Amino acid sequence: MFDFKQEISNKISKIVNINEEELKTYIEIPKDTKNGDYAFPCFRLAKSLKKSPQVIANEIKEKIEVDEALIEKIDVAGGYLNFYINKTKLVEETLNELDAKKEKYGASNVGNGKNIIVEYSSPNIAKEFHIGHLRTTVIGAAFYNIYKYLGYNTIGINHLGDYGTQFGKMIEGYKRWGTEYNLEENPIEELTKLYIRINDLCKSDETVLEACRDNFKKLEEGDEYCTQLWNKFKELSLKEFYKTYDMLGVKFDSLNGESFYSDKMPEVIELLEKSGKLIESQGAKIVDLEDKGINTPCIIEKSNGSTTYATRDLAAILYRARTYDFDKCIYVVAYEQNLHFKQVFEVAKLLGLDKKYTDGLTHIAYGMTRVSTGRMSTREGNVVKVNELLNEAVSRVKAIIEEKNPNMEDKEENAKKIGIGAVIYNNLCTTLIKDQVFDWDTVLNFNGETGPYIQYIYVRTKSVLKKAGYIPEIKDVDGTLLKDEKTIPIIKNIYEFNNILNSVLEKNETSILARYLIELAQNYSNFYNDNKILVSDDKKIQDARVYLTYAVGNVLKIGAKLLGIEMPEQM
Ligand code: ARG
Repeated sequence: MFDFKQEISNKISKIVNINEEELKTYIEIPKDTKNGDYAFPCFRLAKSLKKSPQVIANEIKEKIEVDEALIEKIDVAGGYLNFYINKTKLVEETLNELDAKKEKYGASNVGNGKNIIVEYSSPNIAKEFHIGHLRTTVIGAAFYNIYKYLGYNTIGINHLGDYGTQFGKMIEGYKRWGTEYNLEENPIEELTKLYIRINDLCKSDETVLEACRDNFKKLEEGDEYCTQLWNKFKELSLKEFYKTYDMLGVKFDSLNGESFYSDKMPEVIELLEKSGKLIESQGAKIVDLEDKGINTPCIIEKSNGSTTYATRDLAAILYRARTYDFDKCIYVVAYEQNLHFKQVFEVAKLLGLDKKYTDGLTHIAYGMTRVSTGRMSTREGNVVKVNELLNEAVSRVKAIIEEKNPNMEDKEENAKKIGIGAVIYNNLCTTLIKDQVFDWDTVLNFNGETGPYIQYIYVRTKSVLKKAGYIPEIKDVDGTLLKDEKTIPIIKNIYEFNNILNSVLEKNETSILARYLIELAQNYSNFYNDNKILVSDDKKIQDARVYLTYAVGNVLKIGAKLLGIEMPEQM
């Protein structure tokens, strides 16, 4: 597709003798279209050219040679050059590209087969899958989808928390009272109860604690009985987790969790010893990171000889570098673990890995979610159970459908897509690092900035197409009929789609795509309210508007799908 930014930077580079690609990054899209479609801020050049932005702007304007079929007008305003692009060209380019790529619109090969690991979800075996895990699952899946769509070789890893001394306790608890608990029915709840009970006993009886430690040791040594039990806990937990994953439509390429690295830790310790940075402190082995500006040392081996969460992460980095030769290894984990990842990434530099790998380690941190209303309000101290939350979303939507559109076909299926979609959208639409509030009325507001709103507008495009009874062929679409002020914003949105996907990855921010879809939906809604689409007495206009409608629906669907949201066919 023709790249207007490239065209502008190319022309400017000929005058100022600065690299075209660099200039391209300076170009902005003005908030107010009165200032053109693209703006070039000349103050970026003031220092190197030793002239005022104003003077530079005037000089460039004087000398620049542009083709009117591409750029219609250039203005100088303050230190800015404002470019007005040729709208006919814009419309043609956009719709031709969309027509050529259809449901693959916006996809690209920029990834060029680069290997990207996205690690997400990573709940802990035998513990509740909580609302924070929901968030990493949904965010991680979105990054996974977008990386794939842009041609990266993407590997999704669920780094299960399936290791640690607590399993020694759980085994002990099961040995003593296993038959009292119905693990098949409610595994996580029952295992939690079992765990609390054995933990209490440990506090009052040192010999029980000793037995627990012994179990864990046996587990590490591969003892059959202990391993069998641990496997059982894991299987039961995964079965529960997969209820959530299936509802969300989330998949993984690997479930190698912490236990997978249990036999890969000695090498980490060896390598760190070789680096000379592993020191003894109160019987433990640590790496001091004071000189890296991190005040807390990274504990590699505890005084009792057991390894730590951090050591397992280091072993995972070694393994992943060798197995996947990753260009990036992204961890979608709550900001509560910022320190952990700072430490691990710093210590990873001591493992003797190629710099490519340590540079590729990326922590995408996200904020906490608080549920503010309804039965599951966290203020009341209940832990939010994600399956219940998702089911509640679906049943709330069902109630809305019963009230507003009781004759809808596929009620059940649509309610699922809308309810789950609403929850997913809510997890992705605000700046990731910020804490957020989950409020049912906001999340399910069909007219708000929500998943259901995007779905609602999508369904509207579908019903327009259904009424029209056809999708025009691109050769019948007269682009000059799509240049009015209500239409151009839509065309521009569509034109920008691939750039939006790129900036999601560049800025590690899913909200860019989430908000974009709202804007596109709103722009279409404005257009729809102002224009008749099915104007049978003017086939030309009708063809253009029907095609536009199809294009909007297509982009909404692709974008939503990348976020993990399915589109209902009715609403
Ligand atoms: N299991 C951990 C938790 O639930 C998250 C794991 C994050 N990933 C990692 N590589 N440390 O808190």
